[in-house]
Amino acid sequence: MKVGIDKLHFATSHLYVDMAELATARQEEPDKYLIGIGQSRMAVIPPSQDTVTLAANAAAPMLTAADIEAIDLLIVGTESGIDNSKASAIYVARLLGLNRRVRTIEMKEACYAATAGLQLAQDHVRAHPDKKALVIGSDIARYGLNTPGEPTQGGGAVAMLVSADPQVLALGTESCVLSEDVMDFWRPLYHTTALVDGKYSSNIYIDYFQDVFKGYLQKTGMQPEDLAALVFHLPYTKMGLKALRSALPLVDDAQQASWLAHFEHARQLNRQVGNLYTGSLYLSLLSQLLTDDKLKAGDRLGLFSYGSGAEGEFFTGELQPDYQAGLDVGLPQRLARRQRVSVSEYEKLFNGQLAWRADDQTIDVADDPHRFVLTGQQDEQRQYLDREA
Ligand code: HMG
Repeated sequence: MKVGIDKLHFATSHLYVDMAELATARQEEPDKYLIGIGQSRMAVIPPSQDTVTLAANAAAPMLTAADIEAIDLLIVGTESGIDNSKASAIYVARLLGLNRRVRTIEMKEACYAATAGLQLAQDHVRAHPDKKALVIGSDIARYGLNTPGEPTQGGGAVAMLVSADPQVLALGTESCVLSEDVMDFWRPLYHTTALVDGKYSSNIYIDYFQDVFKGYLQKTGMQPEDLAALVFHLPYTKMGLKALRSALPLVDDAQQASWLAHFEHARQLNRQVGNLYTGSLYLSLLSQLLTDDKLKAGDRLGLFSYGSGAEGEFFTGELQPDYQAGLDVGLPQRLARRQRVSVSEYEKLFNGQLAWRADDQTIDVADDPHRFVLTGQQDEQRQYLDREA
């Protein structure tokens, strides 16, 4: 039985900052951000969007009434949680109108958690093929203004419907995982921005990729050439390119050229958004599938998931005949239509997030065009609005 990703959709905000403008404001050469980091635009997440609204905005447009009826598992992977006890998935389930007989959990392991969710969802659907699982990676990447990590911020959510006989990608049942206690990036409970040893984290990322990629090939007997393209977690797009380059010596010149050409498609949309932590690998998959017309049904893709702290996993999936039918085809146009904000407007929005305080707060949602918005906090409870309710 084939099980895997049946539908794949993405949501971010309607705002972005131009990376050349940000570089100039930070007294850096624009090419450092555009080429050295590999980012052209960075999503600016306004106070009216949080993990919950991004997740709901990603999933709602792709779900039919039949999907909603069949979903009995919802996993939200996030490291931008809004509560230490209650799962963001419960709010998301309510906003999406899911069945009350649904298992709703939030998972955390930095950028890796959505992959853990996807693998658990796969196992769940294999055991219950008439059911569907919804897995969402939703995050806002925040390092702080004027920090080295600033050009690698961003945010958004990727929603994946997991089912039997999937339209998009049939997942393999084998994978190779590596998990160790590494202090490359973390966020203590009293911090709203991440702490990171940037260079160290980039080195660990490459080490993990090499370990789980080679481990996967050994475990399965697959050859590198069996993989039409490699798709990476992209904290910034140059990071994926560095990892890909580390694998090139394993294949001949023609395969190297092919992998490099496919990678340009895999990073096209991430280059416009920035890091979105848990969803980043899956936005890259979406980018690959939406923009790369050299791929065809039956091609096997290799996926590398990485979460600081650290956990990595390499797994593969086979493209299905109707894969375009399960994709968020309007995404490139939506990203192109976003509104550009100046660096000072971005800084104001960055500092205007709902404060971690107990008092009632109101957020102006007038300029946010999305269906689900965060309107504020009352009696220490977040207030969400569904404009279609
Ligand atoms: P930095 O130290 O300011 O940058 O921060 P740099 O000096 O290393 O320069 C970056 C690149 O730009 C270099 O290229 C320069 O040569 C190049 P590289 O040597 O790396 O190939 N450069 C130029 N290129 C063209 N024209 C120019 C120019 N000037 C310089 N004029 C750093 C970079 C990534 C460290 C920083 O942004 C950071 O700390 N980011 C956050 C951490 C991160 O993203 N780590 C990635 C791996 S960890 C991960 O993926 C997990 C994560 O997503 C979190 C999670 O799991 O939850 C982060």
